[in-house]
Amino acid sequence: MYSQTVMDHFRNPHNVGKMENPSGVGKVGNPQCGDEMIIYIKVENNVITDVSFETFGCVAAIASSSMTTDLIKGKTIEEALALSNKEVADKLGGLPPLKMHCSVLAEDGIKMAIEDYRKREEEKKNEQKI
Ligand code: FES
Repeated sequence: MYSQTVMDHFRNPHNVGKMENPSGVGKVGNPQCGDEMIIYIKVENNVITDVSFETFGCVAAIASSSMTTDLIKGKTIEEALALSNKEVADKLGGLPPLKMHCSVLAEDGIKMAIEDYRKREEEKKNEQKI
């Protein structure tokens, strides 16, 4: 059912764990199955210098998170936002159609983490003005 790459990332996921002092955090849930994911990003000069995740989910969700975090590390915010779940699934050697929704969790998690980062930056700027 799953490609070898999916199984490798599932058995040995990259970038797992909570991050201390992240620049942004994205927490997303899949209402269809109840699975959850938290993505942490560290941003310096508009570049994602570090990223990690915690996922309470299925094989496809864990493999997608692992691959997504690998792909966005070292990328600019704009490049990370442009990454789609379809690209992630392709890099994993494909996902069964019924499991495609699991890869959306990682994409949404990244978007939320970036949104959170931007909000924090905005707040910092506003604090400096006071
Ligand atoms: Fe829930 Fe895959 S079944 S994320």
